[in-house]
Amino acid sequence: MSLLIDAIGELSTQHLTGEASPASGEGAGVLRDAAVVLDGERIAWVGRSADAPAADERFDAQGRAVLPGWVDSHSHLVFAGDRTAEFEARMAGQAYAAGGIGVTTAATRAASDGELRRLLAARVAEAVAGGTTYLETKTGYGLEVGHEARSAVLAAEAVDEVTYLGAHLVPAGADPEAYTDLVCGPMLDAVRPHVRWADVFCEAGAFTEEQSRRVLAACRDAGLGLRVHGNQLGPGAGVRLAVEFGAASVDHVNFLDEGDIAALADSWAAWADGGAAGAPGTVATVLPACDLSTRAPLAPARALLDAGVQVAIASNCNPGTSYTSSVSFCVTTAVLQMGLTVQEAVRAATFGGALALRRHVGADADGQRAVGSIAVGHRADLHLLDAPSATHLAYRPGMPLTHAVWRAGTRVR
Ligand code: NIG
Repeated sequence: MSLLIDAIGELSTQHLTGEASPASGEGAGVLRDAAVVLDGERIAWVGRSADAPAADERFDAQGRAVLPGWVDSHSHLVFAGDRTAEFEARMAGQAYAAGGIGVTTAATRAASDGELRRLLAARVAEAVAGGTTYLETKTGYGLEVGHEARSAVLAAEAVDEVTYLGAHLVPAGADPEAYTDLVCGPMLDAVRPHVRWADVFCEAGAFTEEQSRRVLAACRDAGLGLRVHGNQLGPGAGVRLAVEFGAASVDHVNFLDEGDIAALADSWAAWADGGAAGAPGTVATVLPACDLSTRAPLAPARALLDAGVQVAIASNCNPGTSYTSSVSFCVTTAVLQMGLTVQEAVRAATFGGALALRRHVGADADGQRAVGSIAVGHRADLHLLDAPSATHLAYRPGMPLTHAVWRAGTRVR
């Protein structure tokens, strides 16, 4: 069954290689008076409305804007409990500290499988309703072998990509070195069948550089792709470690020095824009909602882009530092507060997220289609705004602009 989505006022393809991309002549990756044909789960055609082929069904976009669905490459959705009191204390002046993770860990361990499954499904539904069509989430509120494995299993049922974050916090009373051994050994073995990625919170109050290095090496040796929580609460080794280990992404990046930015930029030196050639480097993933909720210095997204670093924008939805899955809000904030243009922010929240998850191109090995950009053969993940252009995301902050969402060719909103 094919579907023609016609009369699109502005189509942000975010597909920049040129190979399968329509020649717009109107700025990289943007087409006006456009149409897209979906065939099953894939995009079958992209171009001008006037040239659109016939299809089994037609949807009239009535001049609205279409974007790729958001690719949210950083979230922590497997949790129970509430941290409103901690948030209130923070708004009254208390600083964020990693220790709050322990509060959520206790509540998560106490929840039944059914309760966690229900909470997770509700959070995924909220994300989809806001235009997210590809979603990563992490373990990290179990922090014990059985509970981390349970989180991984539940996450794998509900989202597209699962990350092992046993190295989120050393549980109260545990010896840090012995706990790191557990993360690198029996816990890794237990979660390994259910996850594609591993992450480590490399920060004062969480894991030291040496402990982080051990976690990254063990997880790399187990065949997992790597991600790092780095430079969130202060300057540190997170960014350099991520680059050294060839991590796909380093996330937060609030406290960077010139050397950190240069290391990230160097990691992209061999890559040609669009991903057609060369090995991708380490994406800098910024988390604007988290920066606001923790009253942290905003991550320097503008400086990173200017230095040639590929940037992703993600929600970091979690109960401690960013209790929102609204990528639209994050994009709005990146434009209004971080100095990105609308198209730079949209790209970071679509193609950038895909790059951070290494899904910007299709993978024959596991039959996965590319996500995060609109081109022939890519997964049919589309976000139709109730607005004539993506600019309205920043121009009308906070307005509910998601009109319709297709995920793998199926209308989900
Ligand atoms: O990405 N920084 C570490 N992890 C989360 C916060 C987790 C929590 O406080 O519960 C984050 O911000």
